[in-house]
Amino acid sequence: MKKLLCSTIIIIALINIAACKGKQEETKPKVITDPKELIEVKCTACHFSSRIFEKKQPVSRWVDLVNRMRSRNPEMISVEEANRIVKYLQENNSVPDEPGEEGTETGAESGAGHGEEIPADADSPEAYE
Ligand code: HEC
Repeated sequence: MKKLLCSTIIIIALINIAACKGKQEETKPKVITDPKELIEVKCTACHFSSRIFEKKQPVSRWVDLVNRMRSRNPEMISVEEANRIVKYLQENNSVPDEPGEEGTETGAESGAGHGEEIPADADSPEAYE
């Protein structure tokens, strides 16, 4: 009798697991376009977002920095998402580039570093050779 009860419980558990799996497959991956949300979702896999906002970076540094972060796990963050994140951080969490660098005399107003993007073919293996 105890054995029967046990196997009944196991069977119910298995049915539940199967049902859950089915549900998960139905839900499509959500496309995130809000850069703030992107940072919260994509950039917090390895560290807290406080790591990103604790220090303002020179405008032109964000492209390289985000690209470096992305290269650790390129499947997790697409080039498009990375560029959205770069743009957001350049606008909201940066300091003007170091003085003395080309075209930065007018500071942040000049928009130095803006428009720079991670190349779309950053995914191709050659990019890492
Ligand atoms: C695969 C893991 C991983 C992901 C994903 C990741 N990071 Fe990082 N991040 C790290 C590690 C490890 C360090 C510390 C070592 C270093 O600086 O490279 C770090 C450090 C940093 C720093 C401090 C670096 C400095 O030089 O001051 C910033 C800023 C940062 N990450 C931003 C981001 C942003 C923005 C994203 C999302 C686009 C991101 N990270 C996603 C692993 C990750």
